[in-house]
Amino acid sequence: MAAKKVIYDTDPGVDDAMALIFLDAAPEVELVGITTVLGNHRIDVTTRNALFLKDYFNLSAPVAKGAGKPLVLEERDPPTYVHGDNGLGDIPLPDVIRAELHPLPAHRFIIETVRAHPHEITIVAVGRMTNLAMALREDPEIASLVKEIVIMGGAFGYRGHSGNVTPVAEANIIGDPHAADEIFAAAWPIVVVGLDVTQEAVMSTAYLEELRDAAGRTGQFIWDVSRFYERFYRSSTQFDGVPVHDSSAVGYLLDPTLFTTRAGPIRVVTEGIAIGQTIQAPNTRRFPPGNAWEGRPDNFVCIEGDGERFLKLYFDTIVAAAQHG
Ligand code: BDR
Ligand code: CA
Repeated sequence: MAAKKVIYDTDPGVDDAMALIFLDAAPEVELVGITTVLGNHRIDVTTRNALFLKDYFNLSAPVAKGAGKPLVLEERDPPTYVHGDNGLGDIPLPDVIRAELHPLPAHRFIIETVRAHPHEITIVAVGRMTNLAMALREDPEIASLVKEIVIMGGAFGYRGHSGNVTPVAEANIIGDPHAADEIFAAAWPIVVVGLDVTQEAVMSTAYLEELRDAAGRTGQFIWDVSRFYERFYRSSTQFDGVPVHDSSAVGYLLDPTLFTTRAGPIRVVTEGIAIGQTIQAPNTRRFPPGNAWEGRPDNFVCIEGDGERFLKLYFDTIVAAAQHG
């Protein structure tokens, strides 16, 4: 089977780190690049964290530094109450990082890599959509050259899952709603893995303990990096553990049968109290002409997920890689 070539666009970030480990562990994935974006922390911090992860897990994929501010909005203070002061759950990080940055900025790295491998690159985007929008603005043709984009972001109200930053908005989308609305308008195949399904897959403390004990150094790292994050979720939300956001996008990449999708164009609200809300016009019904979704391409939203089967895939993939690697 040909490898799935992946660019991972990310803002590490605790769950970003856990998803990067998942990508690295999956035998069918060839990670061709890691591009960073602001979000869970400022760009210098998310980029340093990506370089640290490259060192720590001995990843060959280059790290290209991306956008440090949203397209239109002002940059906000980072959510250190979720991901810690250092963006990685306040685990101790080395003073010196050996890995060096790729010379290109993230959006150009995306353009060049997609052009070098037409119809072969899947972009797994688990931060703000700023780098993708910048790449698209500079080279709109890449939309026809990308194999697929799998996004962690948004919330569509399934099973009562709406926003996590406001009652209607999810963090990656509200962080740069203009970028998100632009990328949903382009004719590239986009699958959206939003809170509707990521909050249906929750890693309990017992699950993380078992993984820690079964997956050697990697399991210990996942345990350590998730302590602060788990405390946040337990103290501030109703979850009995850690909802699995970014790794769910990787889960879709590895096994799309884990999810049921719904087709239809998506718009993002870019101002007002509902800023950051993602709204899909489902293809299953018609709306009167002249609406804001008209003429936009279909995007696919994950509306149901098999949380248990996904959690098993994550566990088994990490443990198998730890045993063989
Ligand atoms: C998303 O926001 C970030 O905090 C996480 O890394 C994830 O990508 C969840 O809303
Ligand atoms: Ca993220």
